[in-house]
Amino acid sequence: MEASNISKAIILGIETSCDETAAAVFDTGQQRLLSNTIYSQIALHEAYGGIVPEIASRSQLEKITPIVQAALDAANITINDIDTIAVTSKPGLVGSLLVGTCFAKGLAWSCNKKIIGVDHLEGHIFSPALNSDGSVKTLPFPHLCLSVSGGHTILYLVHNFGDFEIIAQTLDDAAGEAFDKIAKILGFGYPGGAIIERLAKEVAFQDFFHYPRTKVRRDQLQFSFSGLKTAVLYDLVKHGAYDLTKGPIPEKITQELQQKVASSLLVAIADIFCNHVKAAFESFPVTRALTFTGGVACNNYLRERLTLVCQKQNKDFIAAPHQFCTDNAAMIAFVGAYKASQGLFSDLSLDVLK
Ligand code: KG4
Ligand code: ZN
Repeated sequence: MEASNISKAIILGIETSCDETAAAVFDTGQQRLLSNTIYSQIALHEAYGGIVPEIASRSQLEKITPIVQAALDAANITINDIDTIAVTSKPGLVGSLLVGTCFAKGLAWSCNKKIIGVDHLEGHIFSPALNSDGSVKTLPFPHLCLSVSGGHTILYLVHNFGDFEIIAQTLDDAAGEAFDKIAKILGFGYPGGAIIERLAKEVAFQDFFHYPRTKVRRDQLQFSFSGLKTAVLYDLVKHGAYDLTKGPIPEKITQELQQKVASSLLVAIADIFCNHVKAAFESFPVTRALTFTGGVACNNYLRERLTLVCQKQNKDFIAAPHQFCTDNAAMIAFVGAYKASQGLFSDLSLDVLK
């Protein structure tokens, strides 16, 4: 984004689509974040092995006011300095989204601010534009974006800020969901991706079990992870560690088996991503880079594997900084900033999931 194209404004970003309450302040004049605050509910959901929507929305209600105040304080400004409030309005858990959206609308109405509804997935697509110090980097266009979280696995063709199209997505489970479900069977809490990565590293990312890789063609780039998940499950049955009627058999799930399953799963998913990205570069040779974002993009092994694919294809590889891969309000404020410069404001009829 060229700084000269942007009118100077201070944007407050609010993100409450799932289990994080987050707020951030972005200054379009300086082209940098002034603050980025977050409260993660992971500890509240851990015991349930996944997110409980009712608990998520109640926690959002408790945290939204102090988190927004903390973002303003950290930026050393007050609400009077804000021009526009950008808030995630879709997709996500409806109760959680409602808290952020209603809060943002109330604030916009009472303090006479402009408001912009932001699609959470658009936030992820442009999070690689942020450097870890909150400054903005130049993204080459067009590029491919691989966005992978617990809720989605999507490959985009990105033409410019706010201008992108989906070229492939998962037909069933998201990749993060596969990590989370297998980690749960292996006896670990939610979220499982980072645990799978740690276990795999302990055995040097070897492929022990050769789980199946989905086929990919230039004209068929869709992802699918449910077959992989089932293959892992049946392999655990073969090892006597899982009973199809009773579930996991904890005494048979040794540390060695946990490491081997985790490593084989991660290598399989890395191979799938690499094959898809290579085919997508062949289908869209005009693209200049691959960006990588979403919670799963925290995975350093996946980053290294995708870096190699890009090097071979002579393309840049740009991963979002770790703190902007998982859900955050910085990416929402950033999208709000370019939408404000494009005059794309919402009004107080802004509703969730629309
Ligand atoms: O983007 P995110 O915070 O929330 C969603 O929108 O889902 O992503 C969470 C997902 C979870 O599935 C989690 O297991 C995965 O990101 N994740 C990882 C890693 N860290 C988090 N997956 C693989 N490796 C990691 N290091
Ligand atoms: Zn997300």
